[in-house]
Amino acid sequence: MTAPKDFNDRMLSLGLARVSEAAAHASARLIGRGDEKAADQAAVNAMRNQLNMLDIKGVVVIGEGERDEAPMLYIGEEVGTGEGPEVDIALDPLEGTTLTAKDMPNALTVIAMAQRGTLLHAPDVYMEKLAIGPGYPTDVVSLEMTPSQRVRALAQARGVEDSDITVCILERPRHEDLVAEVRSTGAAIRLITDGDVAGVIHCAEAELTGIDMYMGSGGAPEGVLAASALKCMGGQMWGKLLFRNDDERGRARKAGITDLDRIYARDELVTGDVIFAATGVTNGSIVAGVKREPGYLTTETILMRSKTGSVRRMIYRNPIK
Ligand code: FBP
Repeated sequence: MTAPKDFNDRMLSLGLARVSEAAAHASARLIGRGDEKAADQAAVNAMRNQLNMLDIKGVVVIGEGERDEAPMLYIGEEVGTGEGPEVDIALDPLEGTTLTAKDMPNALTVIAMAQRGTLLHAPDVYMEKLAIGPGYPTDVVSLEMTPSQRVRALAQARGVEDSDITVCILERPRHEDLVAEVRSTGAAIRLITDGDVAGVIHCAEAELTGIDMYMGSGGAPEGVLAASALKCMGGQMWGKLLFRNDDERGRARKAGITDLDRIYARDELVTGDVIFAATGVTNGSIVAGVKREPGYLTTETILMRSKTGSVRRMIYRNPIK
C-alpha cells in the first residue's frame, strides 16, 4: 500500500513528536557537560534518524546550515521515506546548545512541518523580532514603532500601566540601547542568555510565564520556528532580516529572497498550516527538561497544530537501553 500524499497534519503530528523526543533523549547525557558540540551532534543524529522513518517527502528548509557547512540536516536535504506528502521541514535539533552544556533553563529540541513551499527559507542571518501573545487587536505594535512606543501601545491595549508590562530580550551587547529604552518606560525586562524560540513562545502563555512581549534580534531560522509555534498557539509576530555584509545578503538572495528590507508578519513567515513539536532538554517554563531516573528517561513535549489551534503536552517515559 502506498502512503497518502495529502498533508495529514493530524496523524503526522504524532510522528513529529517522536522526532523531537528522540533528539532530547539523545542529548540527555550531555546536559551540564560543558560540550555544546557533542550535545548538538547527538540531537542532530537522533533527529535525522527518526525523521527518516516518517512517510513524508520532506525537504529541510531551516536546518543546521548550508550544505557545505553541515553534513547532516543541511538546507535542501531530503528527509523521510520519500513515500508521503511533499513537506517543508524547519528544525533546530538543539535550540540552546550553551544552555544544555551549562544546564541552564529552556533548552529545547524543535521541529516544524508544513506543506511544501509554505515556510520562509530564512538564511542564516539575524532577524529583528517582535512578538506578542493572543487576544490583542491586529498590529497593535509594530517593528516600525520605537521600543517605548510598543510598550505604551501594549499597555494601553491591556488597560494597564507601562510598568505592568514585561518584555523578554536576549542579553547581548547589541541590545544595550534597546534594554535602556525599555527600562526607561518602567517596564520589566526578562533577560535570557539564549533560546529566543522559547522567548517568543513565552508570549503566547503570558499568564503562566509573565512575559507580554518579545523584542530584539536573533537567528532568522529561529524566527521561522518561533512563528510556527505562535501560529499554532495564537499571537502576533513580525520579523525583518538583518544583514551585516554582502555575504549575508548573498545568502538571502540564494534562498530566493528579493526584497531584503521586507517586514514579514507571522503568516508571511509561515504561509500555510503548520505542525510544531518541541521537547524540553533542560527544565523550562514551557516544558520540563529530560528527567533521568535509574533505568528511565522521561521527557515532556509540546505538540501543536495551527489548523485546529490544538496544544498537547505529552509525557514520555522510556527505559534506557
Ligand atoms: P544555539 O542553540 O545555536 O546556540 O542558538 C541559541 C540562540 O540563542 C538562538 O536562540 C538565538 O536566535 C541565537 O542563538 C542568537 O544568536 P547570538 O548568540 O549570535 O546572539
